[in-house]
Amino acid sequence: MQVVDTVAGVREALRGTARPLGAVLTMGYVHEGHLSLVRQARAENATVVATVFVNPTQFGANEDLSSYPRELERDLAMFERAGVDVVFTPAATEVYPPGFDTWVEAGAVTHRLEGEFRPGHFRGVCTVVLKLLNILGPDRTYFGQKDAQQVLAVRLMVRDLDVPVQVVTAPTLREPDGLAMSSRNARLDPDERVASLVLYRALSQARERFESGELDAAACRDAMRACLDAEPRARADYVSIANAETLEELEAMDRPALVSLAVHIGATRLIDNILLP
Ligand code: PAJ
Repeated sequence: MQVVDTVAGVREALRGTARPLGAVLTMGYVHEGHLSLVRQARAENATVVATVFVNPTQFGANEDLSSYPRELERDLAMFERAGVDVVFTPAATEVYPPGFDTWVEAGAVTHRLEGEFRPGHFRGVCTVVLKLLNILGPDRTYFGQKDAQQVLAVRLMVRDLDVPVQVVTAPTLREPDGLAMSSRNARLDPDERVASLVLYRALSQARERFESGELDAAACRDAMRACLDAEPRARADYVSIANAETLEELEAMDRPALVSLAVHIGATRLIDNILLP
């Protein structure tokens, strides 16, 4: 496995490698969710490139950029065992050299939910994703359904800006008790780890109601909020049942719905979602 930290270096490392090329973009602190994307990329491509870059431009001023967990050596060992061929680990100045001043702004789908509570987040995500895709030139790139709105934003950008890559979405990997895997889970203390299960409990509430015939989205949102209110360590940013394509809030769950939520557990902000049906 080759590890490179410059744009010129990674282009050189990938020049002439067997196609198709699959790319998995991450901010590191690798977990099984990331590795599931790598394994799918490994199965579907001749060459696999992964990136580790904690992208400063997608963090707000009061967010957790400085405390975001980092452990590059461990990440590299995990990527190597999963069969990654090339890892790109640029410094921030390599991605954003002095004078950098061009931004990618995707549309309405990025203004809701995460976009409302993290202004500028998707501008940072879309900008870095387009840059990484331009640097690596993959045939396929893999994104987790865990970040459902990110998938929609990236798909929109790729379509609207004619980026020659196929975006593949992979299912959310969970801990055995239901907590969606996330690098941020590492920051939960034992009591918060127990409290964090409230996200999955709230999503399961919505699923159970939907499966027993409830179509009233407001009633499902209320049930989810009641579930969250019962957990004193949880503070919700939003609880949403939205059109799975446009992210507009639904009145009736009579079309594909994205049920999603963002919840602070102590100092850690977690997101999760399910698709219904
Ligand atoms: P990061 O949070 O490190 O996630 C990297 C990729 O792993 C994303 O596509 C994310 O959706 C996926 N992923 C995370 N947890 C997952 C889980 N439990 N199951 C399945 N997939 C999971 O998302 C980012 O980084 C950044 O925004 C990035 C796209 C790299 C741009 O900076």
